[in-house]
Amino acid sequence: MEKLLTTGKAKAIGVSNFSKAELETLLKEGSIVPAAHQLECHPWLQQKEFTQWCQIKGIHIQQYSPFGNQNEIYDSRKNMGKLMDNPVLVEIGKKHNKTGAQVALAWGISQGHSVLPKSKTPSRIRENLEGDFKLDAEDLKEIEKIDKKLRFNDPSKSFGYEFYTDLEGKKS
Ligand SMILES: NC(=O)c1ccc[n+]([C@@H]2O[C@H](COP(=O)([O-])OP(=O)(O)OC[C@H]3O[C@@H](n4cnc5c(N)ncnc54)[C@H](OP(=O)(O)O)[C@@H]3O)[C@@H](O)[C@H]2O)c1
Repeated sequence: MEKLLTTGKAKAIGVSNFSKAELETLLKEGSIVPAAHQLECHPWLQQKEFTQWCQIKGIHIQQYSPFGNQNEIYDSRKNMGKLMDNPVLVEIGKKHNKTGAQVALAWGISQGHSVLPKSKTPSRIRENLEGDFKLDAEDLKEIEKIDKKLRFNDPSKSFGYEFYTDLEGKKS
């Protein structure tokens, strides 16, 4: 991938689903700092320390599954309710005339991250675009308290490779 940059075929290269140790190896042995790291991140899996460490290294964070367990293939812990219905997010939303889903997106943006919501529903796509608004310091303090260190996406078994070994939310 580093060679691709010199050909001009790619303007930037990044990584996804790396552990901290894997990123450290890449930074030590590679010649390019990845432009971005795409990872699962949302108010129930905030990973402050790791994402701030990436940012200090110059790696931009892109949050996939910004709505946590909304993705229908994440069927573990089915009965726990949805992140976007979390009362803290919903209440903060009411204050700003926004939905819990929009608050989840605004939280990611407030951390300096990009958020990658997926929807095939036109009204939700519009709603998600309006999730780019400013939360105040009190909102952020409340959202910090709902972190459950809950990871919904772990394809280790199907890939035959252990992901996220040193990251929050890794189930042993
Ligand atoms: N790098 C990786 O390993 C990795 C892993 C997972 C995902 N991703 C990428 O990240 C992106 C998003 O991830 P994701 O699909 O897991 O998570 P997501 O965007 O958090 O959740 C998607 C689910 O939320 C629903 N939804 C979207 N907006 C909504 C809203 N405003 N209100 C209610 N429901 C809403 C969608 O339903 P409808 O579509 O039916 O509207 C869909 O069921 C995708 O582009 C995906 O390719 C990358």
